[in-house]
Amino acid sequence: MIVSRRHLLAAAALTAIAGAAAFTPASAQSQELNVYSSRHYDIDKQLYEGFTAKTGIKVKVISAAAEQLVERIKREGASSPGDVMITVDIGNLWRAQSEGLFQPVKSAELEKVIPANLRDPNGEWFGLSMRARVFVYDKTKIDAKAIQNYADLAAPALKGKVLIRSSTNVYNQSLTAAMIAAIGPAKTEEWVKGLVANMARAPKGGDTDQIKAVAAGEGAVSVNNTYYFARLLASTKPEDKEVVKNLAIVFPDQKGRGTHVNISGIGVLKGAPNKDAAVKFIEYLVSPEAQKIFAEGNYEYPVRAGVKPHPVIASWGEFKTDQVSLASVGKNTPEALKVMDRAGWK
Ligand SMILES: [Fe+2]
Repeated sequence: MIVSRRHLLAAAALTAIAGAAAFTPASAQSQELNVYSSRHYDIDKQLYEGFTAKTGIKVKVISAAAEQLVERIKREGASSPGDVMITVDIGNLWRAQSEGLFQPVKSAELEKVIPANLRDPNGEWFGLSMRARVFVYDKTKIDAKAIQNYADLAAPALKGKVLIRSSTNVYNQSLTAAMIAAIGPAKTEEWVKGLVANMARAPKGGDTDQIKAVAAGEGAVSVNNTYYFARLLASTKPEDKEVVKNLAIVFPDQKGRGTHVNISGIGVLKGAPNKDAAVKFIEYLVSPEAQKIFAEGNYEYPVRAGVKPHPVIASWGEFKTDQVSLASVGKNTPEALKVMDRAGWK
């Protein structure tokens, strides 16, 4: 522990004055933080270790899928040892929030560093890193001019050319929820119908599978989070180099509202036994040191201004992001599910 020596000396002095051997200030005890995480990236271990090195607070991690964590925290109720929940996508954060799992946090540092549209207005969750939902296409199969906007995915010219995963995927739910925020539910439903009519195949697999299917010629354009394409571009494996050979990226809606961005995010749990440590942890995660780890280790965009993205990401240049508040996108999730269902997105 880094802080312990000074604090122990102070505690010893206080104990001597008070003459009470049982007196131990909280700061002299071995502090810990219980993290419930649905992220499964190697860099997360680095982030936890960095926090412990800085504060002396030990981190215990419980990993599971986001829905399982939500169920677990609900079941544990007031006796939950959990301090924070980390997950990806506003859809998952919104679910946890709407179940009443988070408590509001006030932190001048977090308000200063994290753009307002990437955190809950009430401080119940905070964005830690960003990913954009973009198009990856085959330059030999389609002209980039035909795929400049999300709306283009529904254009008749793209019949049989679009690869996108299932509507059960939270990234697509949030993309649809963001469309609802931008153009309303009726027009969004028309868009989903057009998109479904243009699918190259029934949805299957993850984001990387859609990119691989484009490379294999099953379609011409896929919809993906940026880090999936970045991983393939950065890969040294010959088979990955072969996949990306003819592929390129488009950031949709650059002349309109901007590309849909989503977040990895975190909230302090309602009954957090170590609330102070939890807030310190979030503040650490947006520090320049931790933001660099997010950027370099997992190809995500930092939320903190001034931290450079990974060179592969930086090579795509800057782009305009949809400035809609993710809080309002999250609230559209139930409607997005209905719209996708009605429009036949499997
Ligand atoms: Fe992902």
